[in-house]
Amino acid sequence: MTLVAPPPIPRAAGSLPLLGHAIQLWRDNLSFIANLREQYGPLVEITLQPGTRTVVVQDPELIRTMLTDLGPSLDKGRFFEKMGQLLGDSVVTVAGQEHVRKRRQLQPAFGRSEIARYVDIMRREVTAAVDSWTPGQQLDVREAMVELSLDMLTQTVFSGSLDSGAFAQLRRNLAVVMDSVGVRIMLPDWVERLPLPANRRFTAARDAVRATIGSAITALQESGHDTGDMLSLLLRATDETTGHPLTEQQICSEILTLALAGTENTASVMSWVLYELARHPLIETRVLAELGEVLDDRPVTVNDVTQLPYLNRVIDEALRLHHTGWIVTRRTITETRLGAWTLPAGTDLAYCQHSLHRDPKYFPDPLTFDPDRWLDGRQTLPPGAFVPFGAGKHKCLGDRFATTELVTALATILRRVRLRLAPDQTVRPIARATVRPRTLVMTVEELPAPTR
Ligand code: HEM
Repeated sequence: MTLVAPPPIPRAAGSLPLLGHAIQLWRDNLSFIANLREQYGPLVEITLQPGTRTVVVQDPELIRTMLTDLGPSLDKGRFFEKMGQLLGDSVVTVAGQEHVRKRRQLQPAFGRSEIARYVDIMRREVTAAVDSWTPGQQLDVREAMVELSLDMLTQTVFSGSLDSGAFAQLRRNLAVVMDSVGVRIMLPDWVERLPLPANRRFTAARDAVRATIGSAITALQESGHDTGDMLSLLLRATDETTGHPLTEQQICSEILTLALAGTENTASVMSWVLYELARHPLIETRVLAELGEVLDDRPVTVNDVTQLPYLNRVIDEALRLHHTGWIVTRRTITETRLGAWTLPAGTDLAYCQHSLHRDPKYFPDPLTFDPDRWLDGRQTLPPGAFVPFGAGKHKCLGDRFATTELVTALATILRRVRLRLAPDQTVRPIARATVRPRTLVMTVEELPAPTR
């Protein structure tokens, strides 16, 4: 039998010496990546850092293979290298055995029984936030959702031991750092070394972020207070390689990772759901009807999370149409076979959920927000076509936490207020470290009496 060689991996047009595809990415990274899907086949090469290769994987089966089968043998690649400039070594930036150890350390806070315990706390935080909004107020929804996600995270996983005041202080600096990380992924590395104000802002904001978390850790350490939460867990943990307690740097890296992973994505998805419901009154009516039927007058509890199928479909549809990931990477450590192709060591692999989830081959009429496309569940899709929380050994550690939080928060918000878009408002996505609405301002309205 003769083996047919696979076609060579095409290179996306327009790469320039010293710059690679930086100009196209800088102009409009989401469109650039979306066009790759339309113009090229299962694999296409782009240049982020001249002299290195980044192969964008566009075929669901190859994405599945990369994340699942090849997962244990790959490093994490450019996206996580840049995240590492902020986070240092943490569960999200490292690979191999070190990753397994770090993940094991954090896992206890995300178990089924812990999450069941969190629901009442989450609902309390949401209720307090919504009660602070006033009818007629122009609410910066994305900011409000970031704040809310942060409150839900600090009061559950950190059980209030890291006060949300300390985290709230971090918000502005975190936003600067996350945007810079997003830009650094797209631009060649030499740009980071230029004496530009943006680079100085990045360093200052990163140092401020780590210093704030560092002093919160020291304060808790000195108080000797063990709350049994994530921070106490990390303070008690030992580094399995050295046998010593974790250093402040190590603890800081994990906390920052959770603070970012646990707020950026959830806040954006909640914002997009509220936006889509405001644009689709019939869908909103169905969500409210379901909430009325299942909950009647009582607040949402842990048992309701899986008993609201329509709201869950709305959330799935937001995770499809507005996914927060536009470039998630891996890197080959040795020569690696992916499908019919052999990739040399040191090749970066990337995938983009945002464009994958809009592929008309798998999602007919992809730009329409249609929760009923999920009526048959996900069975009809090939594995790898819808991966909101990733797959394999790096699958989102907070997936169950996030789903619970989304249902609890949305059910609580929607039964207390109505959020309306200004008539002429165009809401556009912006992709930096993650994809989020550029701005989303909505008017707070009281609910008509019978719905409350
Ligand atoms: C809707 C919200 C969320 C989405 C869409 C999301 C998505 C993802 C995805 C796609 C990955 C895999 C990245 C990769 O392939 O390398 C990931 C990893 C991760 N996520 Fe989430 N996430 C969400 C919420 C959360 C929350 C609430 C937390 C924690 C409180 C969290 C913590 C993590 C961590 C720690 C990892 C790294 C896992 C590892 O490498 O072992 N995420 N997330």
